[in-house]
Amino acid sequence: WRVRTVQEAPDEDIVGRTLVVKGWVRTVRDQKKFAFLNLNDGSSLAGLQVVVDGGTPAYEVIQKLTTGCSIAATGEIVRSLGKGQALEMKAQHLELIGTSDSAYPLQKKRHTLEFLRGIAHLRPRTNSIGAMARVRSALAFATHQFFTEQGFLYLNSPIITASDCEGAGEMFRVTTAIPMDPKASGIPVLSQADEQASGDAVKSGDVDFSKDFFGKPAFLTVSGQLSAETYASALSDVYTFGPTFRAENSNTSRHLAEFWMIEPEMAFASLADDMSNAEAYIKYVTTRVLTQCTKDLEFFDKYVEPGLLEKLRVVMNESFARVTYTEAVELLEKANKRNKKGKRRFEFDISWGCDFQSEHERYLAEEHFKRPVFVYNYPSGIKAFYMRENDGDGGQTVEAMDLLVPGIGELIGGSAREDRLNVLERKMRASGLEKEAYWWYLDLRRYGSVPHAGYGLGFERLIQFVTGLDNIRDVIPFPRYPGSAEF
Ligand code: 4AD
Ligand code: MG
Repeated sequence: WRVRTVQEAPDEDIVGRTLVVKGWVRTVRDQKKFAFLNLNDGSSLAGLQVVVDGGTPAYEVIQKLTTGCSIAATGEIVRSLGKGQALEMKAQHLELIGTSDSAYPLQKKRHTLEFLRGIAHLRPRTNSIGAMARVRSALAFATHQFFTEQGFLYLNSPIITASDCEGAGEMFRVTTAIPMDPKASGIPVLSQADEQASGDAVKSGDVDFSKDFFGKPAFLTVSGQLSAETYASALSDVYTFGPTFRAENSNTSRHLAEFWMIEPEMAFASLADDMSNAEAYIKYVTTRVLTQCTKDLEFFDKYVEPGLLEKLRVVMNESFARVTYTEAVELLEKANKRNKKGKRRFEFDISWGCDFQSEHERYLAEEHFKRPVFVYNYPSGIKAFYMRENDGDGGQTVEAMDLLVPGIGELIGGSAREDRLNVLERKMRASGLEKEAYWWYLDLRRYGSVPHAGYGLGFERLIQFVTGLDNIRDVIPFPRYPGSAEF
C-alpha cells in the first residue's frame, strides 16, 4: 500500500484492515509508553503516522530508526485521535530495510532551496521538492489529456538537428566524445561498387568520423516547431512535448540550458485561434492540478507564495487580457514617465521597436492587468523569420503573440506562420538563412500550403507559475545551467 491510497480510501474500506506500507522515516518521537513515527513514501505531502506501543518487538526496532532510513511497517489502520491526520497505523511489526547514517543531510528542520540544490539527489525527499515533483507529473499528464481531448496528435520531434528554429545562434553542437574509428563505428563502409548502387548511403570517402554527427554539423534542438509544422501540414493538429536546449549563458531564475517545451501546431488556424487554444490549455491544466494536487498547492500557498490559490482561481475564471504590442508600449511609456523626483520607473527605457525586458513584462501582467495577458503583433525586427507578416502595414509587424503572466513574465511565445512561399523566402534572405538548408520547410509552402499557427510553452515556467517557486532550478529534477551538469 501507498500512503496516499490509505489516506484517500473511504473509512469503511480501510479502518480495521492490517496493511503493509513501505517508505522512509521522516521523524521518530519516542515517548517511552508509545513511539510515533512519520513514514513518507512520496505519494503525498503528509506521511502516515505509525504508532508503536512500548515494550513490543516493534518498539525495539524504533530504537534503531533514524531520519532517512527505509522501513516496512505492518499494522492496523485506525482512526487517529491526534490532530493533523484522520487515520494512523497501529504497528504490529516494523522491518528496518536500509539504515541511514548520522551524516544524512536532511535532518528535521527547514532547509533553504539553495542548500537543497547542492544535494539534488536527496532533495526529492523534502516536502517542497516532493510536492513540486507531484505537481510536475500531474501537469504533464494533464497536458496530454488536454491535447488528446482536443483531437491533437502527439509528435516526437528530433533532439539532434541541423536547423536553428529561433535563428538566435544559441545551439549546443553535438560531437562524439572520442574521435570515431570508422570500422568500429558500426556504419558499413561501402565498397566502390556498393557506393555506386547505394545512392544516399554513407560513403567512406566523404565522412570525417572525427567530428560532429558522422561528419555533418549537428546541434541539440532549440525548438520542435519546424518538425511540428511538417506534421501539422499533414495531420492538421499536433503537439510536441520534449526537452529543448539553449546555449545562452544566462544565470537567471527563468532560464535553463535544458528545459521542456510544449509546442502545439495547428493547421487552418489563425493567430486568434492560437491565443484561444493557449488560454484554454492554461485554464484546463490549472483546474486539473488544483483538483489532483490540492494538498501540495495548499502547501505552496502557505509557505512559498501567499495568495497562490487565489491567483490560480483568477486564471481559471477570468478571461486573459489581449493587447497589441503597440498598445503595450504606450502603457509602458506612460508608466515610465518621470515621477516628481525625476525618476523613471523602469531600469530600461522602452520605445516602439524594442524587445520587452522582464521588468516590462511583469509590469503589464502584475500591475496593469493583474492577470495573464497576451501581447500580439510585434515588430518584425525582433521576431523570428517564420512569423507571418501582417497584411497592410508594409511588413512592419508580424502575427506573433507572447503570453505574459504575473510573477514570471513570458510563459508562451507563438505566432501564425508565414505560409506564403515568396514572403517566406524574402524573410529568410533578410535573416541570412540559406534557402538550400531549409528546402524541406519551403516545400510545405509549395505543396498545399495552409494558414497555420502554433506556440511554445516553457514547461518549467508553467510549474513555477503554478507552484510559486521562484527559481526555475527548483522545478526540474536536475537543472542544467552554466556550470551544472553533475547529477
Ligand atoms: O519564445 P521561444 O523561444 O519560442 C520558440 O522556441 C518557438 N519556436 C515556439 C513555437 O512557436 N513553437 O520559447 C518558447 C517558450 C518561452 O516563452 C519560455 O516559456 C520558454 O519557452 N523558454 C525557456 N524556458 C526556460 N529556459 C530557457 N532558456 C527558455 N527559453 C525559452
Ligand atoms: Mg520568446
